Amino acid sequence: MNVNNNSHLKYYSPVFTSSGRDVYNAVGQLMHRNDTSLFRSDLGNWDKFAEYIGEKFKNSPKGNIYSLSSSAGDEVYSLIMKLIEKYGEEESKKFFPILASDYDSKIIRMAKEGYLPMFEGDDVLINKHTKGKFNEYFEIIDNIPECVKDMDIDFDFIAKVKPKLKNKVTFKTADATEECKLVEPNNSIVMARNFWPYLKDENKRIQMANNLYKQLDKNSAVVIGNFDDTSGSFASKNLYDAGFICHPENYCIYEKNAIPTPNIYYIK
Ligand SMILES: C[S@@+](CC[C@H](N)C(=O)[O-])C[C@H]1O[C@@H](n2cnc3c(N)ncnc32)[C@H](O)[C@@H]1O
Repeated sequence: MNVNNNSHLKYYSPVFTSSGRDVYNAVGQLMHRNDTSLFRSDLGNWDKFAEYIGEKFKNSPKGNIYSLSSSAGDEVYSLIMKLIEKYGEEESKKFFPILASDYDSKIIRMAKEGYLPMFEGDDVLINKHTKGKFNEYFEIIDNIPECVKDMDIDFDFIAKVKPKLKNKVTFKTADATEECKLVEPNNSIVMARNFWPYLKDENKRIQMANNLYKQLDKNSAVVIGNFDDTSGSFASKNLYDAGFICHPENYCIYEKNAIPTPNIYYIK
């Protein structure tokens, strides 16, 4: 099924969730939520984010991009679309494949099979960000695949991710606390977004920040989300304490050698 690229903004609502699913353990405790969305707004301006990556690695033959808590893939698909839009298929090749992981094997199975749950308005949002290319990247399907039925997940419709997008990312099941020790030290962007509160113990968050600092070189960066500084977690403090500095133009980005902004509270 094709989406009309000329659909108007009438359905567009910035407060949607493309994958909403609560995961409980055997004794009924909430373990985590898979909540994620395309072009998630807490990252700020996605065009600027793509420009930041392009600029950072303009003199490098390869830019490594990781998502350590990818959920269904909304975040990585958003970035891939932006990088292609900005730099074209050829020039953006050096950023792919993006290596995406999540410790939730069910959500990773769905991502590996190439399905993405969407909400009404997501097509409009994608068209807005890609100059009307929804149908180049996704196909809306009429059936509900087994891997989606297997999860109690919210959606309005299911999209099959087309190879043009799907081939630019690999998904695997992995725990971010281990995966962060395996990333390439040089020229890497490590997105570890909106998952820090699920590391329930403060020591685990401190350890995660320290391991990232130990692993990454000066030309790499860590990217977090808004949720990481709420819900009892304060990832930005953990990153500052480990030695990272917040990028002056985007509070989500942490680098070893960012130019400090004087009025940020957690400057050491
Ligand atoms: C709220 S979603 C955020 C998804 C995406 N990064 C974003 O910002 O939209 C949190 C995800 O983190 C995953 N997660 C939680 N703890 C994790 C861990 N220790 N290692 C890997 N993934 C984890 C959950 O399975 C869930 O899919």
